Amino acid sequence: MLRSKYRITIIGLGYVGLPLARLFATKYPVVGFDINQNRINELSKGQDSTLEVSDDILQSVLVKENPFTCHPELAVSSRAESRDLNTGLYCSSSLDDIKEANIYIVTVPTPVDKHNRPDLTPLYKSSETVGKVLKKGDIVIYESTVYPGVTEEECIPVLERVSGLTFNVDFFAGYSPERINPGDKEHTVEKILKVTSGSTPEIGKIVDDLYKSVITAGTHLAPTIKVAEAAKVIENAQRDINIAFINELAKIFSLMDIDTQDVLAAAKTKWNFLPFQPGLVGGHCIGVDPFYLAQKAQEIGYYSELILASRRLNDSMGTFIASQVIKLMIKKDIAIKGAKVLILGFTFKENCSDIRNTKVVDVYHTFKEYGVNINIFDPCANPEEVMHEYGLMCHSELAEKSQNYDAIVLAVAHKEFLDLDLKQYLKEGGVVYDVKGVLKKEIIDKRL
Ligand SMILES: NC(=O)c1ccc[n+]([C@@H]2O[C@H](COP(=O)([O-])OP(=O)(O)OC[C@H]3O[C@@H](n4cnc5c(N)ncnc54)[C@H](O)[C@@H]3O)[C@@H](O)[C@H]2O)c1
Repeated sequence: MLRSKYRITIIGLGYVGLPLARLFATKYPVVGFDINQNRINELSKGQDSTLEVSDDILQSVLVKENPFTCHPELAVSSRAESRDLNTGLYCSSSLDDIKEANIYIVTVPTPVDKHNRPDLTPLYKSSETVGKVLKKGDIVIYESTVYPGVTEEECIPVLERVSGLTFNVDFFAGYSPERINPGDKEHTVEKILKVTSGSTPEIGKIVDDLYKSVITAGTHLAPTIKVAEAAKVIENAQRDINIAFINELAKIFSLMDIDTQDVLAAAKTKWNFLPFQPGLVGGHCIGVDPFYLAQKAQEIGYYSELILASRRLNDSMGTFIASQVIKLMIKKDIAIKGAKVLILGFTFKENCSDIRNTKVVDVYHTFKEYGVNINIFDPCANPEEVMHEYGLMCHSELAEKSQNYDAIVLAVAHKEFLDLDLKQYLKEGGVVYDVKGVLKKEIIDKRL
C-alpha cells in the first residue's frame, strides 16, 4: 500500500489537540502524543473526559496499532471497518511512536505564572520532544495561543538545538491558531475558518492545503507566522475588552439601581450595538491570553493600558457579585455570619466540564470572608478535580429539597439549572441572584 504523503503527530491531546487529531485521522494516519498516561489510557479506550469528542466519533477513528508503521489490516478497529485503511488515530506517550511522522502539530497549554507572566514551559518541553525526532523535510506547526514571536524566537531555537538541524533549510514551521470554544457542539473544529501560516511562502501553501483538506469552513493564509500569532491573541483580547466594558456598566447601573440586562436588551436593538454580556471571565483563553500580549508589549517598552485595565476589571467581578448578594441579604435582614448560600455552577462556562481558571472561586472566597457557609452544586464539574485543583467540595447532585438556603447564586448557566425550581431550596424571604441573566425576572432579587 502507498504510504500517506502526510503522517501527522499531534502533541498534546487536550481540548484543542484531541478534536484536531480526530479530524485529521479521518483522512491521514495520525499519532496523538501526550505526556499524561491517564489521558492516553482513556482515549485508547475511546473515552474523552473533556466531552469535546463523543465516544462513538472517537471510536470510529481509533486504531489499535501505530498507523505510520503497522500493517493496515491489523490497524483497523472493529468500529471502523468501512474507512480507508491508511488513516486513523493511535494514541501514545512513547517517543518511538512519533518518529515516523513528517508533520508535527503542537497543541500544548500556554498558561501564565502567578504574576500573570507567560509560562512557556510546556512549549519548550514539547519542542524538545519534537526536536528529538525531527528529520529533514519535516514541518512543525504550532497551534497554542501565544504572543507574536514565540514560534520563531522561542520554539524554533529549541528545535534547532535538540535536533541539530537548521531552520528553513532542513526543517520548516507553521502556525495555525485554534479557535474552538469548549462545550460548543455547533462550532466544531472543521466548521471554523482556520488561519494558517508558514515559515516560507511555499511552506505556508503546504500548511494551508493540509488544513484546507479537512476544515470544511476553509482557511485564511496569513503572510507570516507573526501575523497569524497576533491575529489569534487579539481575538481573545478584543473579547476581554468588550466584556470588561459591559462589566463596568453593570457596576455603574447597580449603583443607579438600573437593571443592566434591561439596558442591554434596549441598546441591542440598534444594528451596530455589540451584544456582549456581563459576567465572570474565566477559563484559560480570554482570561489569560491578553496577558501574553500585554506582557510582551511591556517587555518591548509599551505599557498596555486598555488590555490590562480590562483584565483588572474582569478579574474583580467575583468579589463584586458576592458583595452584591451580601448587600441584598442585609437588606432582607438575613444574618450574614453562618448564613447558608448555594452556588449553582462551578465550571468556567455553561454546559462544559472545564474548571480551569474558573472565577466562581472568587465568589466563593469573598463569601467565605463574610463567614457564610457555602455549598457548590455543579452537575458538569468533576468533584475530584475540583477538590484537587481548589480544595473545595463540589456536589454533583442536589440532595436536600428542604428550604434550606438563605441565598442562591446562579453562577453558570448550565441547562440543568434553567428549569430548577429554586423555591424548593430557598428559605422564605431568601435571596436569588442571577449572574447570567437567564432566570425569570419574577423569581430573582437581582441580576448582574
Ligand atoms: N481550550 C480552548 O478552548 C482553546 C481554544 C483555542 C486555543 N486554545 C489554546 O490551545 C492550547 C492548548 O489548550 P487546551 O485547552 O487544549 O489545553 P489542555 O490543557 O486541554 O491540553 C493540553 C494537553 O497537552 C498535554 N501536554 C502538556 N505538556 C505536554 C508536553 N510537553 N508534551 C506532550 N503533551 C503535553 C497535557 O497533558 C494535555 O493533555 C493553549 O495554548 C490554549 O490557549 C485553547
